[in-house]
Amino acid sequence: MCGIVGYAGNHDAKEILLHGLEKLEYRGYDSAGIAVATGEGVQVFKEKGRIAVLRDHVDAAVETTVGIGHTRWATHGVPSKLNAHPHQSTTERFTLVHNGVIENYEGVKREYLPHVTFKSDTDTEVIVQLIEKLVKDGLGVEEAFRKALSTLKGSYAIALLDNHDSDTIYVGKNKSPLLIGVGEGFNVVASDAMAMIAQTNQYVELMDQEIVVLTRDAYQIKTLDGTNVSRAPYTAELDASDIEKGTYPHYMLKEIDEQPFVIRNIIKQYQDANGQLKLDQNIRSAVKEADRIYIVACGTSYHAGLVGKQFLEGIASVPVEVHIASEFVYNMPLLSQKPLFVFISQSGETADSRAVLVEVKRLGHKALTITNVPGSTLSREADHTLNLYAGPEIAVASTKAYTAQIAVLAILAVDTARAKGITLDFDPLQELAIVANAMEALTDQKENIERIAREYLSVTRNCFFIGRAVDFYVGMEGALKLKEISYIQAEGFAGGELKHGTIALIEDGTPVIALATQSHVNLSIRGNVKEVAARGADVCVISTEVTKEEGDRIVLPEVHEYLTPLVSVVPLQLLAYYAALHRDCDVDKPRNLAKSVTVE
Ligand code: F6R
Repeated sequence: MCGIVGYAGNHDAKEILLHGLEKLEYRGYDSAGIAVATGEGVQVFKEKGRIAVLRDHVDAAVETTVGIGHTRWATHGVPSKLNAHPHQSTTERFTLVHNGVIENYEGVKREYLPHVTFKSDTDTEVIVQLIEKLVKDGLGVEEAFRKALSTLKGSYAIALLDNHDSDTIYVGKNKSPLLIGVGEGFNVVASDAMAMIAQTNQYVELMDQEIVVLTRDAYQIKTLDGTNVSRAPYTAELDASDIEKGTYPHYMLKEIDEQPFVIRNIIKQYQDANGQLKLDQNIRSAVKEADRIYIVACGTSYHAGLVGKQFLEGIASVPVEVHIASEFVYNMPLLSQKPLFVFISQSGETADSRAVLVEVKRLGHKALTITNVPGSTLSREADHTLNLYAGPEIAVASTKAYTAQIAVLAILAVDTARAKGITLDFDPLQELAIVANAMEALTDQKENIERIAREYLSVTRNCFFIGRAVDFYVGMEGALKLKEISYIQAEGFAGGELKHGTIALIEDGTPVIALATQSHVNLSIRGNVKEVAARGADVCVISTEVTKEEGDRIVLPEVHEYLTPLVSVVPLQLLAYYAALHRDCDVDKPRNLAKSVTVE
């Protein structure tokens, strides 16, 4: 996690760095810092806390046009000013920011730096101290930079300033995301294009184990052995307004409200001129030829995968397993003869998923990535990519990416069914259009949902979500949303499992959100509602026009039953949002979390 930024140009570097860091704050926000080249050498400003705190401590009078910056999500060393980046070498000649984890930092310390006194508890400081040592040993700065990076094991996106050369930024990348932004009279570098969109829409991709020597007028990419690499910039179609909150108080609310538009955009993107579903022929063949699909993902994307399994098995008759990426590497099942791996990832950068992808490629299997960020690591490294077209998702709690993932999985399932000659009695694009309208109707019910959040969730210490069949998976997602932003202990349970232990947790006033959207299990989940209510639970039932009963608190507009997860999750997202507001939590930047999880 963490985000880095660097700028060499003609304008005030401080402001550009701070603005860039504000756009990267979703990647980590426990401390932040910048280092800028000035007439009197490199000056460092760093603080514990958000970018706003750092901004207040940066000396506005400092004149600078070159600098680097960092926003941190702590891995090694507690969040503190001392552990905040940038870090400096002992003589303060070198100053460095780093996103990633150096796995062999203790070994490097022992072997190369036994006499150095370290100032911080971070793994990062070892990099800057090693560079200084190699320069003292007689290497040029660029050579020392390359040699140091060759010695390190782990992941890194790095930017380095040298006090003896105030024009140059040395950049390095391995496994952590990093892009160069190219402009007239300036060059910029950042973990994410969003941090540079105010400057340029021309970007250059970097590959693992490449470095860049960057000045205001030039950037030279090299491999770690010093071979020059030439790579032309590409133009990114990003709209700066997509990453602004507009009139919304929080990104999360904006992104919840954007879901109908996202679904309509997906329909447009996956439709041909005749209004028929279109999918890349190679993806169609890859799925059709697979004897089993292994979906691999984390968190919310994993929950979308569980729903996707229902589609792919129910609609297209393809056997599917869904796995948590961080467990997959150790608990890899016996694979089928012709597996296809499907990675679901909003960011396309999640390290746990990437570790599986690397292993899958090593074993010679095919992979498809479903992501919101074309050009991301998981997209580049898989054989195929399906885009989510959801627009940038900024709030840490994922909402519109989850529904986009489910919509794209539905499209994939229907396309596969057709490719296999299975006749379907519904038109997926038409059904998705109905879903978009239903979502709109729900986002218009905010007052009702806010009232329910106040009633059930403003003071409770826990909350349970129950459901059967696909409602169980949506309940898991509702629980994750609630716990991550409101800090209420929440769990999603399969209705039928309650009696096997969980029901012991129910006491007077325990809030239970029951999803009853599936007609084939409606009777059974209603039985579970009665069981928990009999033990004192306050139950809020969410049903549909088909399954509703008197007293249900939220009735969803009717959509195709397969697609109910797309609408049933909307009130759960809103419940979490309002619960967090009532409990005075930071909705967009919940504690301890970061949006893009680039450490394993
Ligand atoms: C929760 C959330 C996370 C992510 C998970 C995977 O709201 O956003 O659980 O879903 O960290 O991230 P991606 O999808 O970027 O791989």
